[in-house]
Amino acid sequence: MQHLCRSLRADRAPLGLVPTMGALHAGHLSLVRRAKSECASVAATIFVNPLQFGPNEDLAKYPRTFDEDCRQLAAAGVDLLFAPTPAEMYPSGAATTISIIGIGDRLDGASRPGHFTGVATVVAKLFHIAAPHRAYFGQKDAAQLAVLRQMTRDLNFDLEIIGCPIVRDADGLALSSRNKYLSDSERIEALALSRALQRIEQAIAHGERQSDRLIQQALPELTNVKLDYLATVDAQTLLPVTTVEPGTLIAVAAWVGQTRLIDNLLAD
Ligand code: PAJ
Repeated sequence: MQHLCRSLRADRAPLGLVPTMGALHAGHLSLVRRAKSECASVAATIFVNPLQFGPNEDLAKYPRTFDEDCRQLAAAGVDLLFAPTPAEMYPSGAATTISIIGIGDRLDGASRPGHFTGVATVVAKLFHIAAPHRAYFGQKDAAQLAVLRQMTRDLNFDLEIIGCPIVRDADGLALSSRNKYLSDSERIEALALSRALQRIEQAIAHGERQSDRLIQQALPELTNVKLDYLATVDAQTLLPVTTVEPGTLIAVAAWVGQTRLIDNLLAD
């Protein structure tokens, strides 16, 4: 992969990287499209990264649709797909991880201890392997995006992180590979997350800026799901804010049945 990426970067043509865990949907493909529009060649990766799953999480049952993913990536014009095995990424004896102090323990990092260490470690390895000029990530995973921007700054990766907008189903549900776990009734319950965010968006549009009041207005939407967090935070540091300003991140995470879903919006 390193060798092939080096040849794609020859003559300084920009190389774009789209890391994924597969089970691809239109959200992933929007990253590929964006990368295609900005880069001479695009590499995608599919790797269900064991390091970012907690001991009681869904690593074993994470959806795997490799053949269909390959078909979609080829149709989208991806030049190179890297789909390593866990043993290739983490040969026995591998001993280095990357922890992002502070920010790595906020939002999903608080609920999923070690999660962002796993994400940062694998993404740092992918950055070293592909050495892309640009790497594409979804705003859907806003905390992940903030953590990876911090890592890229801190470790002087010579690339640009491009954040891409959330792709949703027509009814508002943010696309996620984990939506495959939802039963028909859970699929309807899951709309609570986007509805809660819409309520907040409307209240902001009507001039409300106080975080606690915005959250109070949204909570009634979330009574049928098990709320993990609903928070207003600075989009770069993920630290809580009491007043919402343009660019403030409003993020929600909740379990619908056994499935943990996340969603967010950036305030205007
Ligand atoms: P995965 O969940 O497969 O997501 C891959 C990329 O697609 C991430 O950047 C994610 O934010 C983006 N994405 C997912 N759903 C989206 C949506 N509805 N709209 C826009 N973008 C969306 O995130 C991961 O994999 C992993 O943590 C990874 C970065 C690959 C490291 O293992």
